[in-house]
Amino acid sequence: MTSPNLTSPSYDARRGQLETYFDRTAVEAWSRLTSDAPVSRIRATVRAGRDAMRGTLLSWLPEDLTGLRILDAGCGTGALSLEAARRGATVVAIDVSPTLIGLARERTGAVPGRGSIAFRVGDMLDPELGSFDHVVAMDSLIHYSGRDIARALAALGARTRGSVVFTVAPRTALLTVMHAAGKLFPKGDRAPAIVPITIRGLARRIAREPDLADFALARTHRVNSGFYLSNAIALTRRGAGPAGGAR
Ligand SMILES: C[S@@+](CC[C@H](N)C(=O)[O-])C[C@H]1O[C@@H](n2cnc3c(N)ncnc32)[C@H](O)[C@@H]1O
Repeated sequence: MTSPNLTSPSYDARRGQLETYFDRTAVEAWSRLTSDAPVSRIRATVRAGRDAMRGTLLSWLPEDLTGLRILDAGCGTGALSLEAARRGATVVAIDVSPTLIGLARERTGAVPGRGSIAFRVGDMLDPELGSFDHVVAMDSLIHYSGRDIARALAALGARTRGSVVFTVAPRTALLTVMHAAGKLFPKGDRAPAIVPITIRGLARRIAREPDLADFALARTHRVNSGFYLSNAIALTRRGAGPAGGAR
């Protein structure tokens, strides 16, 4: 896999763990969670939270995405890519898991209208993907350290004309205890640890990244649905329009 200079040893190591996890360990659980198939009550809360989060992130993009290039960074089974393409976007959807990309291809089929999706297997930071109007990274940076998230955002921001919208796991007392107890997932398909971070701490790191100097932390929104807890954040290039209105 192309490993751009933009990454660090800790980023590369974590990406390798995530590839193993999403491509093998949890591929069935993940496939089920992202489908309409029945799931446990706990996972139903996660599914509902993720649906709400996808809706939030998509609502921060322009309504009409015709002709805009969108990167779905860590696209998983492709639900967000499909909705963006239905709104006219030219989507590049990339994931480190070949199995999930295969599932995404199967599930999305032909996109109606003028939008399109090009699915790719690889690293979301690969410069060969080109430049974008907007980048969306839903729950794909939550396993990386605050330092690696800020560096990833800088790498993505350098190639983004509009906004980078993404999620982070909030640092709350309850989540910290739950993670410590390892109760979020059954042992067999437990993910590499989620790294809870504060928006304030991330904002400080973002302020230190030269490639993000032209971006403002424009919006945040927390989704809390049972066992799903995640903060959405929009970084918007100054003067770039949608996703820019502060909440
Ligand atoms: C929790 S899943 C979310 C998938 C999708 N965004 C969604 O919300 O349904 C995180 C995804 O990010 C992918 N991922 C993590 N790090 C990545 C990287 N550096 N490059 C590409 N994909 C990555 C994982 O393989 C996994 O499919």
